[in-house]
Amino acid sequence: MNSHTITSKFIHWTFTVLYAYGIFKQVGDLEELEDTSLLNFEIVFAIVFLVIVLIRYFYMKGTPTLLGAHEEMRKGHLFIAKTVHRLVYFSLIMLPTTGLLIAAMLSFDTRGMGIAIGLHEFSATLSYLVIAIHIGASLYSRLKGEGIWNAMVPVWKETGKVNSDLISKLEVIENKTYDQIEKIFRLN
Ligand code: HEM
Ligand code: HEM
Repeated sequence: MNSHTITSKFIHWTFTVLYAYGIFKQVGDLEELEDTSLLNFEIVFAIVFLVIVLIRYFYMKGTPTLLGAHEEMRKGHLFIAKTVHRLVYFSLIMLPTTGLLIAAMLSFDTRGMGIAIGLHEFSATLSYLVIAIHIGASLYSRLKGEGIWNAMVPVWKETGKVNSDLISKLEVIENKTYDQIEKIFRLN
């Protein structure tokens, strides 16, 4: 049975903690950054966050998507999963980069702070959205017992494929969606 490496799992879960920390300890507004020690801490945090995201991206680049699946995955399914993963990475790169942009604008007292804050807020909202989709899709796959969950998540392990009327109905909708995606993006 295919599984992600221990390093992949370690990065996935330590990074999840780092992301949650970054979101919960977020700066309330620009005035808080008049405190130089908070500003310096934010800058160091953003650089460390960015470096880890980049290392992770390059480390995972060669790893097949949905690697733990027992059955061969549809091309349309892989396409959606890869797109969501790329959007997760995009939002995770944008968050610290736009944070550093805010810091640079503060230091050099330049115009356009409204745009930098707007981009920072957009990155945060995008990250909430795509990570919620990611977690929702992981849970759905867990309920189906496809094997993907077991390859990354160390708890609440699957014991095999689950069959039910509801899942069969949902699979019909899923397959129609993949047909459309494969047709639109000419994946066959
Ligand atoms: C807490 C609930 C979470 C669950 C249950 C979960 C589950 C999973 C699973 C099952 C995979 C494997 C998918 C595959 O084999 O292709 C995966 C991969 C991935 N997850 Fe999560 N995840 C969670 C949180 C997060 C968070 C918070 C982030 C981002 C900060 C994230 C980002 C990713 C990315 C980018 C991948 C693709 C592989 C990689 O590049 O590391 N996940 N996740
Ligand atoms: C990885 C690093 C960072 C993360 C994860 C992060 C995350 C966040 C989040 C989630 C918000 C709330 C956005 C919203 O209201 O939707 C926020 C707001 C903010 N962040 Fe960051 N941030 C980071 C780095 C930075 C840095 C380096 C700075 C500047 C030194 C900064 C300055 C701000 C400011 C000024 C706000 C308030 C914006 C407002 O007035 O609404 N952030 N940050």
